Amino acid sequence: ATTPAFDMVLFGGTGDLVMRKLLPSLYQAHKAELLHPEGRIVALGRSDIGRDAYLAQMDAQARPHVKNDFDAAAWASFVARIDFLKLDAADAADFAALAAHLGQRSGRVTVCYLATAPQLFSTLCEQLAAVGLNHPQVRVVLEKPLGHDLASSNDINAAVARFFNEDQLYRIDHYLGKESVQNLMAIRFGNALFEPLWRREWVDNVQISIAEDLGVEARGDFYDKTGALRDMVQNHLLQLLCIVAMEPPASLTANEIRDEKLKVLKALKPFSAEDVANKTVRAQYKAGAAGGRPVVGYHEEANIPADSRTETFVALKAEISNWRWAGVPFFLRTGKRMAERVAEIVINFRDVPHALFPNPSGQSFANRLVIRLQPDESIRLYFLAKEPGDGMRLQPTYLNLDFQSMFKVRRADAYERLLLDVIRGDLSLFMRRDELAEAWRWVEPILETWATSPVPPKSYTAGTWGPAASSALLSRDGAAWHEEV
Ligand code: BG6
Repeated sequence: ATTPAFDMVLFGGTGDLVMRKLLPSLYQAHKAELLHPEGRIVALGRSDIGRDAYLAQMDAQARPHVKNDFDAAAWASFVARIDFLKLDAADAADFAALAAHLGQRSGRVTVCYLATAPQLFSTLCEQLAAVGLNHPQVRVVLEKPLGHDLASSNDINAAVARFFNEDQLYRIDHYLGKESVQNLMAIRFGNALFEPLWRREWVDNVQISIAEDLGVEARGDFYDKTGALRDMVQNHLLQLLCIVAMEPPASLTANEIRDEKLKVLKALKPFSAEDVANKTVRAQYKAGAAGGRPVVGYHEEANIPADSRTETFVALKAEISNWRWAGVPFFLRTGKRMAERVAEIVINFRDVPHALFPNPSGQSFANRLVIRLQPDESIRLYFLAKEPGDGMRLQPTYLNLDFQSMFKVRRADAYERLLLDVIRGDLSLFMRRDELAEAWRWVEPILETWATSPVPPKSYTAGTWGPAASSALLSRDGAAWHEEV
């Protein structure tokens, strides 16, 4: 079904996110005829380059990010939806011009996507409100990073809340828009098979990994002030953990889902300074290889100070203090310049209580469910089966559900799905203010301990799975990362 009619206003319209992700995603939705014919897109930029120059920039920077199915006619009709306006965040007249341009038709959905530095969020919201662009049909999308720590995140949220109600605010975490993440909910709550086993009695440990093969690329300046814990763990990894660990919500309404996620965040066991030393690993990549080619180390990347202690890799052991999960380690891991680009959630079940079958190798085996988010989407269930033929030897094998071959339909990219959700007014895949605060609260002692610790980050060779300490973190609990098995 198509969306309602809408105006989508892109703040930071000439920036990287808009070019690489938002415009290509909107184009895909347009091509799939999911956008209302009266949906308009207004890109905003600080300098008055005019519509033609903007379209030329789009052609050079957004179009190359359209995957596989580029269609010239569809692109042309998509471009017809787009306008460009100059807007300076400090200039009230520019906001008046924006409001006039939009010509507020009552009831028309207006999405203000703030793809700018978060320091601007409060000014932008204030200026929007001053020209009446905070009426109930206005929705504001807030991009990460939403703050640097709990206090700065609270400041942003408080500033924005002066002008908008919570149900107008869409805090985006694009991992929640990924197909397999939604599938995780389908697997857990649409089937009777897994949920009874989805608890401490049957689960030995859970692993959530987001490994990237890329380095910091052109984002050195931003990244060095951020680090992997803020860039990935505080948001994406914790959101995945919530979906794995939450109780079944009573319904799929946004607040029921978010209430359950919040309970998980609140149940996360806080880290003491000693826990940070024992249960976290931070590291930086040094020169190595990626895709068969030599690559430089983190310190040699552009805009990285030679003495930087910013982590490009994090592994940690999280625990959830509630009846379902007490005592079950949740191992989280993410890093730049790792061996492969792969994101997966691994549920390791407990071993059988009594071994009946001969096991010459002596290796223990437990069932394992692997949900792969990327690069491909699949679900694999590992189990033991009898090796064909004489005797009774068991062999590990797996059931494999490969979504690409099972469902031959177009799949929407995470941003496309989330943009459509905003236009349709569905908040379920967006973070509520209290969730964000809880996530920061949990991460903060780790940040603080690292900042003052005399122990520098470990190092790992680019193109590997991280430092040895990452494997050691798991082996202390008798576990190993999935790909090491
Ligand atoms: C972003 C981070 O939120 O997620 C980036 O800022 C990271 O550093 C990216 O590369 C990963 O997203 P994806 O969808 O490519 O796995």
